[in-house]
Amino acid sequence: MGFCVAIDGPAAAGKGTVSKAVATHFGFAHLDTGLLYRAVGAKVLSGMEPAAAAQALVPTDLTARDLRTPEVAQAASRVAVVPEVRAALVQFQQDFAARDGGAVLDGRDIGTVICPTAEAKLYVTASADVRAKRRFDELLAKGMDVTLVDVLADVQARDTRDRERVEAPLVAAVDAVVIDTSDLSIDAAVAAAIAAIEEVRA
Ligand code: CDP
Repeated sequence: MGFCVAIDGPAAAGKGTVSKAVATHFGFAHLDTGLLYRAVGAKVLSGMEPAAAAQALVPTDLTARDLRTPEVAQAASRVAVVPEVRAALVQFQQDFAARDGGAVLDGRDIGTVICPTAEAKLYVTASADVRAKRRFDELLAKGMDVTLVDVLADVQARDTRDRERVEAPLVAAVDAVVIDTSDLSIDAAVAAAIAAIEEVRA
């Protein structure tokens, strides 16, 4: 039997960390849907048209290059407003969500558009300053040459674009459990997520 956990939230809110830990805890498969948009964004940076890039996406596009750069993140959020791009990625995500054994998907529109009937929905958020600092530390640790000011600007620009787009905007599903991780350790955020899911599994 399938069991879908939908985890949405703004840029760099810690969705990835929480999603991976939740998937490991419950033995579910995990899909980082942001990676799909990042892969399309990277193809567009190499000269392709957004819709054609999304329609031609293959699994190796997700691993072929480092997609976790600020440049690719911006490109991802720009292609993410294009309805044809979103449409091309729906089926793959819905098939993943329905797999036997359970699935965790994290993104922006999982609880609202991709899996509106998900058994558990979480909205993981934090203040923009905290999110920018976390992403800055992550990028620094990878040896990237970034400034906190630039990372905050990237996070805010993407949040605005993600919230204001017409198609599948970033918004908490009405039935999502909101977890604000601004003042939470990773362990505490993961524990809160697991507790919320346990509640609906019981
Ligand atoms: O890791 P981070 O939260 O910074 O970003 P991400 O989850 O990798 O997503 C990159 C971009 O893809 C976002 O800013 C969104 O514009 C877009 N995205 C989306 O529109 N819908 C999703 N389900 C996932 C990502």
